[in-house]
Amino acid sequence: MTLVEDEAFYARIEDQLEVTEKRLSAEALGADNPFIAEASRHVIGAGGKRFRPLLVALTSHLGPAPSDERMSLAGAVVELIHVASLYHDDVMDEASIRRGVTSANAAYGNSLAIMVGDWLFAKASSIVTALGTDFVRIQADTFGELVAGQIAETTGPQPGEDRLSHYLDVIAGKTGALIRTSAVFGAMASRAEPGVIEALSRFGMQLGMVFQLCDDLIDITSTSTGKTPGTDLREGVATLPILLLEASEDPEDEPLKELLGHGVDTDAEVERALTMLRASHVIAEAREEIAARAEAARGELAVLPDGPPKRALDRLCDEAINRSN
Ligand code: IPE
Ligand code: IPE
Ligand code: MG
Ligand code: MG
Repeated sequence: MTLVEDEAFYARIEDQLEVTEKRLSAEALGADNPFIAEASRHVIGAGGKRFRPLLVALTSHLGPAPSDERMSLAGAVVELIHVASLYHDDVMDEASIRRGVTSANAAYGNSLAIMVGDWLFAKASSIVTALGTDFVRIQADTFGELVAGQIAETTGPQPGEDRLSHYLDVIAGKTGALIRTSAVFGAMASRAEPGVIEALSRFGMQLGMVFQLCDDLIDITSTSTGKTPGTDLREGVATLPILLLEASEDPEDEPLKELLGHGVDTDAEVERALTMLRASHVIAEAREEIAARAEAARGELAVLPDGPPKRALDRLCDEAINRSN
């Protein structure tokens, strides 16, 4: 529930998101090439939560010089990088549904989906130049971290590497980095002090990891995500509940461990594994881990001045967890 005194602030955020949205449409969807325009509209226009532009808008109130121009440039940049990574991710995960519509790879084939993703990334790289070299450097490093996370997920842990710490590194890279940068970009766009930016950087990373942990849980527990449930299981990506199961010594977990050990390929196997996982103790354990990390994220907000932006970021920690309940 929104506090009454914050209603005007949320209305302002809505307006800001609209400004960002207009920029996204104009920049990304206005490609000269009709195929690129259609293929980028396909996923961008299908919706999505716009979580990263929201973070940019919220943190754009934390400095002495808020600017909708800079905020919307930054918001468009982070959403374009995100969407570019989704085009690539759906090729990697052989996904057929994204944001409730046919994924780009399913609609146009892998090669075109990859190149449209590249095109969107090029757009983001062009737009970010208007914000200056500090933004450009952070954007480049962030995309590097994101890709390194996706690569680490694909290669799997190195021999002898702890599987849980590998997984946490993967999600920090593939998801945490861009969400961290979204929180940082909004603050930078309003010329916030270094101390505020540093706190938001730590907050954003923690929140981003919570976000991916929830996404991984939802892949098991939900059937209404606009994506195909069980994609991680099918792709053999061991997310937190699976790692908790692997570590369990409870004999009752043996049948599920055995099923997962064989690799789940057919629809029937995925369904069976999902049903067993949903009933398993690992779901509650994963939720506890998520809640602890959300608290850690919240703790990073302590240095921010009290007011609507801080309260909104605090609330985002609860909303991130509620997504997986
Ligand atoms: C999906 O991101 C990929 C992850 C990093 C979990 P979102 O959950 O933000 O996807 P959209 O933008 O709402 O579609
Ligand atoms: C996506 O990870 C992370 C990036 C796109 C960088 P997932 O593969 O878990 O995300 P979904 O479930 O397909 O959205
Ligand atoms: Mg995926
Ligand atoms: Mg993936």
